[in-house]
Amino acid sequence: MPHRKDEKTRDITELIVKAGEKARRETRAIPEPELTRPIEWPVSCTVGPGLEGAIACETKIGYVNGSKGWLIYRGYDIFELCAYSTFEEVSYLLLHGNLPTKKQLAEYNKKLVDSRNLNNTMRLFMNYPVEGMNAMSALRLGTNLMRHELTYIDREEYKPNLDGVIGSDEDSIPMETKPMGEKDAIYGFKRIKMNRPFKGVNPELHPAAGAESCNHLVSGVATIAAAVARLKLGQLPIEPDPELSHAANFLYMMTGCRPSPVEERIMDVALILHADHGMNASTFASMVVASTLSDMYFSVGAGIAALNGPLHGGANEQVLYMLEEIGNPGNVKKWVKKSVKEKKKIMGFGHRVYKSYDPRARVLAPLAEYLVKKDSSNHNLLETATTLEKEILDTIGTKKKIFPNVDFYSGIVYACMGILPENFTTIFAVSRVAGWTSRILEYLENNRIFRPRAMYTGSFEKEFKPLEKRR
Ligand code: SDX
Repeated sequence: MPHRKDEKTRDITELIVKAGEKARRETRAIPEPELTRPIEWPVSCTVGPGLEGAIACETKIGYVNGSKGWLIYRGYDIFELCAYSTFEEVSYLLLHGNLPTKKQLAEYNKKLVDSRNLNNTMRLFMNYPVEGMNAMSALRLGTNLMRHELTYIDREEYKPNLDGVIGSDEDSIPMETKPMGEKDAIYGFKRIKMNRPFKGVNPELHPAAGAESCNHLVSGVATIAAAVARLKLGQLPIEPDPELSHAANFLYMMTGCRPSPVEERIMDVALILHADHGMNASTFASMVVASTLSDMYFSVGAGIAALNGPLHGGANEQVLYMLEEIGNPGNVKKWVKKSVKEKKKIMGFGHRVYKSYDPRARVLAPLAEYLVKKDSSNHNLLETATTLEKEILDTIGTKKKIFPNVDFYSGIVYACMGILPENFTTIFAVSRVAGWTSRILEYLENNRIFRPRAMYTGSFEKEFKPLEKRR
């Protein structure tokens, strides 16, 4: 496999290749669960609270092998994608199903470059008190302003196009009756096309859902996130440089400095690592919104809202605060003992699916070490993290299958690049917008509004008392 061209970052490629070899060595023998076969609907699965274990749909986009700790995008191993491709290629792969040819990549990249400049959106955006807003709240506001500026959804002539679409109850089993089993449901899906241009509106404003809006969002969310970081520091947003790559532009628009090849490469790897991850909470949230035939911008906004939570994408920021609270490696043992006693969730550890080492942490940890070797100002932070990892694995980790997840080392990598913790989760969204939009496009091919059940355990036949008689 030819290594990437840039000689200046060859050592980073080698670091990733070594991490992949180590992962395969350590996990090859672990048995493979048979969760990768086509589904005959209706399907039986064991479902826990929070839909744990529920199978919501089929997909060809990505596969998380939790027992082995493997991550696959459209059949490609994450270590190979990090070692040899770019976020542009990977977001194209997720959206279109194949790695782009040179021509396809040039065309796609032009779309990203054309969508990166959001001057009108920025003008609207700067009327808001972004400097005092939570970064993810500002990011979600920015996507709404993109929706207003780049589509015609807010125009009165816009009418959603519903012909040929399943009604919400048309083929579902009677919901609140005694579950008769799915034999009464007709699971006949119809194909819907979301990209039909709507008549009578400004043609160059693109449809609100479908491939064009995905390109706008994959490109524009980075522009908004970079502007949020600057506005929160009282600085003006910076226009993108069409000569720079997606990762380099994101760093440039955030810091005002063109990144070094190493900084660009490491941000590019981070964006590849965070791009897609099965039916995680924010991907599911974005798909639920899209399944009602709302639009891609609202769906991405729902993904941003879900990702913000500290149990999900918000953990990367909390890990930094946690490591700062521990202070130094010498405090780790005492801190862990106290946290375990108080049954506290240790940020950056554990995972609903990975009951093994998160492959993304296998790349981010050596990247953090690589950066700290170059600039030792975060040496104590990294030492505290690696000591904490060892202490967790030696105590609750192996028993409860709690390992470092993607959020444990990502914050240290970003801190080494001078990025403030308040922007860490927006970086997660800059990448995951590729996974959200890809899975929405795929799901809308055979759309069915998400509508699970809740088992009613309340009371019946209560006697109504008028207000004056209630005590
Ligand atoms: C992401 O889904 C995805 O793919 C998400 C993600 C993605 O790319 O989209 O991978 C990104 O969100 C990574 C996770 C980031 N969150 C954190 O680091 C927050 C800390 N982690 C935990 O909150 C927890 O591990 C979750 C939420 C991530 C996983 O949730 P689960 O599977 O519901 O965990 P659980 O609560 O059922 O845990 C099972 C046991 C429990 O112990 P018991 O009640 O059986 O005694 O493990 C314990 C938990 O208390 N446990 C932890 C722990 N995680 C699980 N104990 C201490 N610290 C932790 N971090």
